[in-house]
Amino acid sequence: AHGWNDVQDLAGRTVVVSAGGTREPLDPVRFLGNRSSGRQGIALAVAAARRGATVTLAAANVDESLLPDHPAIAVERVETTAELRSAVRAAGAGADVIVMAAAVADFRPVASTAHKIKKSDAGPEPIELAQNPDILAELAADRLRPGQVVVGFAAETGDETGDVLAHGRAKARRKGADLLAVNEVGTDRGFGDVPNEVTVLDADGAVVGQGSGSKADVADALLDAVAERLRATTT
Ligand code: CTP
Ligand code: CA
Repeated sequence: AHGWNDVQDLAGRTVVVSAGGTREPLDPVRFLGNRSSGRQGIALAVAAARRGATVTLAAANVDESLLPDHPAIAVERVETTAELRSAVRAAGAGADVIVMAAAVADFRPVASTAHKIKKSDAGPEPIELAQNPDILAELAADRLRPGQVVVGFAAETGDETGDVLAHGRAKARRKGADLLAVNEVGTDRGFGDVPNEVTVLDADGAVVGQGSGSKADVADALLDAVAERLRATTT
């Protein structure tokens, strides 16, 4: 990780990072959600700020105690995918970089009732779901600002249809983001205590970066690739 002598290679840059996991209400007290803590997105926001950027952190359901207290990081708390989309697009309109590190709920209940859902002897009603907008794919297609670097995250496992990188490559091409950070999850690679491992792909699926170690190390490896992109596009 970069230490006290951080390179200021993001000085004057504006970066938006989404973190955490979105929740979709079923009724006033229940939701569909996921277990994302927001730690990787927070590490990215902090690393970007240390490298000189002005950062907006769109934090979806992140525990208060994890939120960074840094003069260059503005935190916006959101709950649903619709709220996250609005926050990211509003802050992203003037941003040099947008990183979608949040785990976005793929689906939402079509209806959220105003009253608590009650159980009855007839058993539960099925929950009808609608697909959420793909915030990252939209950002990649719309380009809120010319030259903006749009970055996604993907946690993948290998399966019979392909290994982690094959899945990552397919997702990179499908999303159209400039960079996709692919994490291998759910495997014991036998290297002891390596908590995170990331491969950075470009939109064609070519490997443009690699990092491993703490979430801060992974954040810096990804920001290295981002900074290189910015240098290449703003000359
Ligand atoms: N993402 C997004 N909006 C969505 C879903 C995902 O912006 N509705 C973003 C995530 O923040 C992440 C990237 O897309 O940066 C990849 O998310 P992932 O869930 O791996 O991709 P999906 O396209 O949802 O594919 P899958 O079917 O594997 O979940
Ligand atoms: Ca998904």
